[in-house]
Amino acid sequence: MGIGGSDMYRQQILDHYKNPRNYGEIEDATFTHIGENPMCGDTIEMDVVLDDDEETISHVAFRGDGCAISQAAASMLSQELPGTDIEELQEMDRDDIIDMLGVDISPMRVKCAVLAEKVAQDGTDIYFGEKDIEQTITED
Ligand code: FES
Repeated sequence: MGIGGSDMYRQQILDHYKNPRNYGEIEDATFTHIGENPMCGDTIEMDVVLDDDEETISHVAFRGDGCAISQAAASMLSQELPGTDIEELQEMDRDDIIDMLGVDISPMRVKCAVLAEKVAQDGTDIYFGEKDIEQTITED
């Protein structure tokens, strides 16, 4: 799988990959956004529901195709994000995702790890009119 780290974390990643949490669609999501890792063509599409205050994330669902790391990161993030403030989401970076996964990620696989995070961040920016893109492409 190209990842190092303890067995416990590797097991956790495989569990999220095989039994993704919050997999599916949310009808009437506040916004939906899709991203791709151009290295492999793998995708994550995410639905996000914001609270009425439009500051707090209340629900997240995703669907996608890809490697264990990209799909497990999306699954874990879908559990982490509800209750999170939009500003906290925008401040997340690759280190937060690597911490969440709990494994060493080779530079090649970082794009897999951050795909879901970038999709959530870009989707938010598009919704609030701060970005105008069709699709997220993982750049780093
Ligand atoms: Fe495609 Fe990981 S190999 S996202």
